Amino acid sequence: MKYLILTDIHGNSDALEAVLEDVSDEGIESVLVLGDLVGYGAGPNEVIETLLTLPQPTVVVRGNHDKVVATPLEDAHFNAIARAAVRWTAAQLSPSNLEYLHELPQGPLEVEPGLFVCHGSPVDEDEYLLSLDGASFAFSVHPGRRIFFGHTHIPTLFASDRGGLSSIELDGDAETIPLTGKRRYLANPGSVGQPRDRDPRAAYFIYDSETDRLDWRRCAYAIERAQRRILDAGLPEILAHRLAVGI
Ligand SMILES: [Fe+2]
Repeated sequence: MKYLILTDIHGNSDALEAVLEDVSDEGIESVLVLGDLVGYGAGPNEVIETLLTLPQPTVVVRGNHDKVVATPLEDAHFNAIARAAVRWTAAQLSPSNLEYLHELPQGPLEVEPGLFVCHGSPVDEDEYLLSLDGASFAFSVHPGRRIFFGHTHIPTLFASDRGGLSSIELDGDAETIPLTGKRRYLANPGSVGQPRDRDPRAAYFIYDSETDRLDWRRCAYAIERAQRRILDAGLPEILAHRLAVGI
C-alpha cells in the first residue's frame, strides 16, 4: 500500500492543497494523518473538508489541538497564542466539522500489521518525541515496527535494532530512506502547516509498505496567502510571521 503521511496541518489549507497537488501523480492509495488538523491557521473548515473529500481511504488520529478545540475549557495548559488560536478555531468551525474533530480516535492506531500512527508518541499522545531516550522508551514498551508520529513539527527518524538505537538526519530538499526489515522505526515527517525546522516548506512522507521505501519531501506553497488569511482573521500576528521562517 502506498501511503501519503501528513501531520500538523494546523488549519493551513494552502499548504495542504500544495502537498496534495505535489503528490497527484504518485499513485497514493491511502492518506494517514497524524493529528493537529486545526489550530494556528485560518482555514480549519477547509482542511477538514479537504480531508473528508479525498478519494483515497484516510486514517486520521487526533492531535492535542484537535482534542482541545473539540473540548471547550480544556485549553488552560496552552500558552496564550495557542489558546487564542484554539478559541478562534472553535468559533469558526461548522457544527459538523466540530463534531468530526470530537469523534477523531486517539492514537496509536494499527493501520496494517506492525504499522502504527499516533500524534505525540505511541505511549503518550501529548509527548514531544525528540530524544534518543524518549525513542528508546517508546521502542521498549510498544511493539510497532513502523511507527509514524508528529507533534514536534521537526522531521525526525529513529531506528532500532539489536545493535542499538540511532537517529537518522532528515534535511535538505528530499530524501529516500530504504528501511530494512531487521530494524524498527519511529518516523516523523515534520509539519505540513507550521514547520519548525527553519525550512518554511511543507513537509511530508510517502511510504510504500510493499517495498518498505520511505520518501521524505518538502513542498513550497503560497505562504503569503496563508499569512494574509491569518492576519485578516485577527489571529495573533506571530502565527503569520513564523510561517515565512519555519520556526
Ligand atoms: Fe502540532
